[in-house]
Amino acid sequence: MSRALVLSGADLAIVDLHRDEAAERAREIAEEFREIHPSHMVPKITAHYADVSSKTDVDDSLREILNKHDRITNLVSCAGFCENCDAVDLPPERIKRMLGVNLEGTYYVATGVARYLMGQNAPGNMVFIGSISGSIVNVPQPQAMYNASKAAIRHLAASLAVEWASKGIRVNCLSPGYMITEIAMKAKILIDNPGLKKEWETKIPQRRMGPPEELMGAVVFLSSDASRYITGEEIKVDGGYTVC
Ligand SMILES: NC(=O)c1ccc[n+]([C@@H]2O[C@H](COP(=O)([O-])OP(=O)(O)OC[C@H]3O[C@@H](n4cnc5c(N)ncnc54)[C@H](O)[C@@H]3O)[C@@H](O)[C@H]2O)c1
Repeated sequence: MSRALVLSGADLAIVDLHRDEAAERAREIAEEFREIHPSHMVPKITAHYADVSSKTDVDDSLREILNKHDRITNLVSCAGFCENCDAVDLPPERIKRMLGVNLEGTYYVATGVARYLMGQNAPGNMVFIGSISGSIVNVPQPQAMYNASKAAIRHLAASLAVEWASKGIRVNCLSPGYMITEIAMKAKILIDNPGLKKEWETKIPQRRMGPPEELMGAVVFLSSDASRYITGEEIKVDGGYTVC
């Protein structure tokens, strides 16, 4: 999604728990832009640290971003994780961590950016990364708390869209289906269950998991004026999984 925004001409600030990895990704994205558009100036791409579950970290990272960039116009809130665990066994500290990152994290970055935009009297645009798990229950893996956190993200986007519409701030939710990311392929659940990927794919009408590149179009669409009259909506990118 970061690549998609930069290739569309946007400057970018990546905020992540792992600043070095974010910085490495920033370098790769700049390099890709240079190869594709050799005669264009490379957009400004910076990397920043925050544990998004901490309001202090988020506010510090926004200050740092504004020291390096002229302004903030858009937000994509993506940090999140899933944990497969029987509901009766999930310890309270893991529940707090999951809601802290997946839900509170999005709340802190969204309200932090909204506060800034309102202070500038400027319009803005936000995309929250939800999941189809916010609408359906994935099987067979147990992940009740993750599903609940993603359902909350969808409704948070709708609620903030209504609250901030008069300020010119749009908020939408982009919900991926089963994506075949590097980390997803190393997930314990797939290593422990070698037939699981096939099982998921038989339930997807397109019969395949999606590469992350297939989120590029939707994130650019929702982040741009092409979707100017869309707010509070959810777009699912899932190969048709949730329609059957
Ligand atoms: N992979 C999928 O199939 C899939 C499907 C639906 C939704 N999603 C959602 O997409 C988002 C990204 O998932 P992914 O599969 O790319 O996972 P990932 O683990 O590859 O990426 C998550 C990123 O968030 C960062 N992060 C984690 N906790 C953080 C914190 N507390 N503060 C700041 N950064 C933090 C990680 O360092 C990492 O860079 C998540 O919100 C996930 O729920 C993924």
